[in-house]
Amino acid sequence: MKILIIDDEKSIRDSYRMILEYEGYEIDEAASGVRALKKIKTGLYKIILLDLMLPDIGGIEIMERIKKEGLDVNIIVITGHGNVKDAVAAIKLGAFNFLEKPIEKNKLILILRNLVDIIELRVENKNLKSTLYDDIQIIGESSKIIEILEVIKKIAPSDSSIFIQGANGTGKDLIARSIHFNSKRNNKPFVEVNCAAIPDELIESELFGYEQGAFTNALARKKGKIELANGGTLFLDEIGDMSLLTQAKVLRVLQFGEFERVGGVEKIRVDIRIVAATNKDIRKAIKNKKFREDLYFRLNVIPIFVPTLKERKTDIPILVEHFSEGFFKKNAIKKKRFSKEVIEKMLTYSWPGNIRELRNIVERLIIMSDSKLISMNDFKKYSMLYDSENSEIIDKDLTLKEYSLLCEKQFILQKLEEANWNISRASKLLGVQRPNLYKKLEQLDIRIKK
Ligand SMILES: Nc1ncnc2c1ncn2[C@@H]1O[C@H](COP(=O)(O)OP(=O)(O)O)[C@@H](O)[C@H]1O
Ligand SMILES: [Mg+2]
Repeated sequence: MKILIIDDEKSIRDSYRMILEYEGYEIDEAASGVRALKKIKTGLYKIILLDLMLPDIGGIEIMERIKKEGLDVNIIVITGHGNVKDAVAAIKLGAFNFLEKPIEKNKLILILRNLVDIIELRVENKNLKSTLYDDIQIIGESSKIIEILEVIKKIAPSDSSIFIQGANGTGKDLIARSIHFNSKRNNKPFVEVNCAAIPDELIESELFGYEQGAFTNALARKKGKIELANGGTLFLDEIGDMSLLTQAKVLRVLQFGEFERVGGVEKIRVDIRIVAATNKDIRKAIKNKKFREDLYFRLNVIPIFVPTLKERKTDIPILVEHFSEGFFKKNAIKKKRFSKEVIEKMLTYSWPGNIRELRNIVERLIIMSDSKLISMNDFKKYSMLYDSENSEIIDKDLTLKEYSLLCEKQFILQKLEEANWNISRASKLLGVQRPNLYKKLEQLDIRIKK
């Protein structure tokens, strides 16, 4: 971090320089207010040591100009001994701290270290916030997405339950988060429960928590997800996979706003907003008595149907752009562009894994491609798309054996993508036993994600 020393006395500048260079700072100097302002405007300095008594423009005036122009610098003010009034004025104008002449070396070093820490924290914070924000941005210009964005804007501030339906990888999670972060509950927790991932016998203690001694391993009281979400939003993901028994208990919480921990008698009241999501055809599940109709009506105050990527292909180019930019930002790698042919190819593909699949392919191509422009060759080599719809394999110069292995690999990858890389789900989709699937993955050199 470069520091600018502003003082009209050379001997003083020299002594600061000696101290600070020894501490490893890079130093520059200005002997007058006019020169100082010129240098500050270059934006090269994050930190300024400013003597308030300058021959041409006073230090306070320099600070006023910095403020007026909105320059991003941190100022440590140097005042004559006993000149507290100026110091106060400077602090009011936003100075970070002040030092009195004659300068105490250790004090100067300490103040600078604190300032550097704060500046670094600020930068870190800004980066974190911007990646956080990127992660809940819903990208799309197709009419279907615009419609959803409008619904979100309208309903986010209310407390009504939302029921999101859509295939895997279409953005249900993202929409749930976006609803929470656009609601007045956004400073309270967003708690996610994946009902498909938690075994039936655990889901109750996961949702409701338990009291000490409720079962063998309950060594201490534990709060459940519902309690943790108090004041905020509870996202019941894959609710179509919830057992009927748990559905009944959840329904009770929704009706009465209260519940008991497992093994407890105390009634716990909560204020939560529910967002639920499923990739299942919920009407069919109701008809087959797999899902309670009364729970469905409670949850389905506002339905959102998320389209598949195939139904909104026009969004592919901006999604590719969005995922690339996000990936560059997070991974500090050189920027790469996608060639027109690759984008066009993407527009013809059917995307069974939807946006999740697109995102994975964008990231994979950025990692694997050796040039700055991702070409059709890279795409053929690394994308491994198998379009079941067009029955088209992208590379054509293959032996029969290579061809069939590639087919197999692409088909398995596609099913894995559809199953969100959950092996037992994928093995069901493929109609093979789990151990056999593992063997296949090894044989085809497919590494398991997540
Ligand atoms: N409209 C969108 N804009 C930007 N990213 C999206 C969009 N929809 C989905 N994504 C991204 O695609 C991936 C899959 O989305 P997700 O919400 O997990 O899908 P689902 O819950 O429906 O399976 C996530 O990385 C998500 O951030
Ligand atoms: Mg999801």
